[in-house]
Amino acid sequence: MSKKVLVITGTVSPAEKSFSISLTNRFIKEYKTLNPDDEIINLDLNNEQMAHKTLSRENFGTYFNEQDALKYINQLKEVDKVIISSPMNNFNVSGLIKNYLDHVLLADQTFSYKYVKQGDAKGLLEHLTVQILTTQGAPFGWYPWGNHTEFLKGTWEFVGAKVNEPILFAGTKIAPVSTMNPDEAIDSIADKIISVAKKF
Ligand SMILES: Cc1cc2nc3c(=O)[nH]c(=O)nc-3n(C[C@H](O)[C@H](O)[C@H](O)COP(=O)(O)O)c2cc1C
Repeated sequence: MSKKVLVITGTVSPAEKSFSISLTNRFIKEYKTLNPDDEIINLDLNNEQMAHKTLSRENFGTYFNEQDALKYINQLKEVDKVIISSPMNNFNVSGLIKNYLDHVLLADQTFSYKYVKQGDAKGLLEHLTVQILTTQGAPFGWYPWGNHTEFLKGTWEFVGAKVNEPILFAGTKIAPVSTMNPDEAIDSIADKIISVAKKF
């Protein structure tokens, strides 16, 4: 049976210069070859008002509204798989991705109450399989306190999703990768992309 795959992208780089967009497009190309009947749904967070809204004291009472939160939570309930792609921005996911997560990580919607005994909160998105695709300017390990790939993995597992092996393309600001066009650079990990896509 064909599956619905939601593709969430959250980079602020121009699309044609973005390594995370190139990685995402290449992953989808390989995935489509393996699963030609699946439906791809694109969600570029640059185009979503909710991803521009940061939770504050002022808006707390209205933040989790139908249009900004429930609509996106329902979307997660209606799809089978999620591909989420984020560059590292100041040691974490981009602000767009963080704002998206702040809207959809809602108690009794995507997880049962979290302040119970450690490990006792229950994810409510157990039907989902998630593929994480990340990039960062520095090589892996330069900033041990910043690991947006692990942050995303733990967060999706918290809501009950099964997370496939993530792909991190690190060192985009270091030569020779920094001098290459993204498609050319991503080509160097084509084998990895294909082997991970086969498991997703
Ligand atoms: C605002 C901003 C903050 C960034 N912070 C970091 C960082 O903390 N660590 C890092 O390794 N790279 C950092 N970078 C570099 C990006 O992660 C890298 O260029 C990435 O490839 C850009 O996104 P893209 O994948 O869409 O091209 C930052 C880039 C921007 C624009």
